[in-house]
Amino acid sequence: MGKNLFSKGKAAIPASVRTKEKRALRHTMSKYPTNPRQVIYACGSGKCQKRGGKEIRKTMRDQLKMAGLQDEVEIIKTDCTDRCKHGPIFSIQPQNIWLHDMSEAQIMQVFREQVVGP
Ligand code: FES
Repeated sequence: MGKNLFSKGKAAIPASVRTKEKRALRHTMSKYPTNPRQVIYACGSGKCQKRGGKEIRKTMRDQLKMAGLQDEVEIIKTDCTDRCKHGPIFSIQPQNIWLHDMSEAQIMQVFREQVVGP
């Protein structure tokens, strides 16, 4: 089985990966040197932004910092997920929890329960 490129520590980048891609990969690896235990995918497109997605994302980042979890939980902004009517859309992985049709307070409650912890 191949070596996990994103495993802890400096990982080998296969020679077959082109130079530009290697630089991008090294940048990502230096920003996130370990595999996050959770990833939150947050729709960053227009309708979800207008429905409070940007502010919720910022609040999540602030709470992760306050809890010291910024290296364990990664928030990734995505393009539109074609669920605009149900936004703002957030997906918590690996639990595969999709947040939609929820108020900011409900989203933050799930975030606290599933990500930050008690
Ligand atoms: S704008 Fe967020 S799902 Fe389309």
